[in-house]
Amino acid sequence: MGCTLVLGATFGDEGKAKIVDYIAKDSDVVCRFSGGSNCGHTIVVDGKKYINRLLPSGYMYPKTQLVISQGVLLDIEVLMEEVKSCPADIKSRLIISAKAHLVFPYHKAIDYSNNIERPNDNTGRCVIGTTGKGIGPCVADKVNRIGFMVADLFDLWKFRKALLVREIEERARTQFDFEEADENWVRKQVDAKMDIYEEFIDTFKDNIEDTSFILNNFLEDGKNVLLEGAQGTLLDLDHGTYPFVTSTNCVSGAASVYTGIPPKKIDRIIGVFKAYTTRVGNGPFPTEFEGPIADKIREVGHEFGSVTKRPRRIGWLDLPALKFSCMINGFDELVMTKYDVLQDLKEVKFASEYWEGSTCHFTANPSMSTPKIHYESFGTANNTCENYIATIQRKLKTPITMYSDGADREAIHHVKQ
Ligand code: IMP
Repeated sequence: MGCTLVLGATFGDEGKAKIVDYIAKDSDVVCRFSGGSNCGHTIVVDGKKYINRLLPSGYMYPKTQLVISQGVLLDIEVLMEEVKSCPADIKSRLIISAKAHLVFPYHKAIDYSNNIERPNDNTGRCVIGTTGKGIGPCVADKVNRIGFMVADLFDLWKFRKALLVREIEERARTQFDFEEADENWVRKQVDAKMDIYEEFIDTFKDNIEDTSFILNNFLEDGKNVLLEGAQGTLLDLDHGTYPFVTSTNCVSGAASVYTGIPPKKIDRIIGVFKAYTTRVGNGPFPTEFEGPIADKIREVGHEFGSVTKRPRRIGWLDLPALKFSCMINGFDELVMTKYDVLQDLKEVKFASEYWEGSTCHFTANPSMSTPKIHYESFGTANNTCENYIATIQRKLKTPITMYSDGADREAIHHVKQ
């Protein structure tokens, strides 16, 4: 099996965690390598739902080694909550990168403030509709080379001083309301968080490593390593629908950057997509539609954000977008999820091609919100999921090897090629 990579092929929320959890049963190591607490990875085991935002999705298998690599933006508070509420004891199995950047309260405050619509804003800034988890501002610090990393927590006294200064500076600079910019208020907030940072270091000090060595050594020892992506290709900072994207890279190339595993050592790249499409937050969504059918899909498919609980926007399956995703990621195979949500609709549609100006392909820029789309219909009443797969697979020219038609692990099926 070697090194397998699982990614979202569209706008995130494709059901990656479920597929990672399924493949993890044959893996020795599962590594989460990107995003932060902006994502909610859902798995259902024996009818019980577990949602995690930072832990790698293979944690339910008692022997699986878990890694959080340096590409993850780590909110220590969220991680500690997850570790405590996790049904399996993962403390001894979790290795955390010393180079992972930390998310702080001021990052969330800036992110939250950027989400507010300002009618007379002449700066050209758009409201992205982020999850408000501080991811963008944390990445901005990383890129400005003023970020704090997990390794900084080893000297807690020095760290506290530096964080306090930063929190005060940033809150004053960004002009939050009076209380939030008040030094005493900030001091109290920082001190309250210090207890959690201390607990984190006490718990994990022996598990903090340079995970690039750890992961490469695992591969050299012949272990099966599974890399778990976050968000989806169309939310990628460089290849997605900028500026309506997340602040990290979500495509296959990012897996090497964020883990230190060379591209040539990744043996299998799997893209996950839903039988229809959803998007949360603002930005172009060519196959989006509204009305009773969209409402039904949202309700049956539980299409509400697992982090923010926002209703997800609904659209038909978009093959030009998927073809783009196959091109950017070089998927070896695809997995389709949630066909069951469409089953009662009698007839569904999918975008088979669309035109923008003189070109006939998907281009991930903001103006693509109104391309001329050619839709095809598929009757679910007299057809099977296998037929749907065969129809779209012909057009995608990438094998669809698995599909799921329910929330549980047992609802994953292999497709005969
Ligand atoms: P941020 O990642 O919180 O900065 O949000 C940027 C954009 O990415 C927003 O449109 C979010 O709704 C979207 N986004 C971030 N994480 C996820 C995810 O896990 N699933 C779906 N959309 C996401």
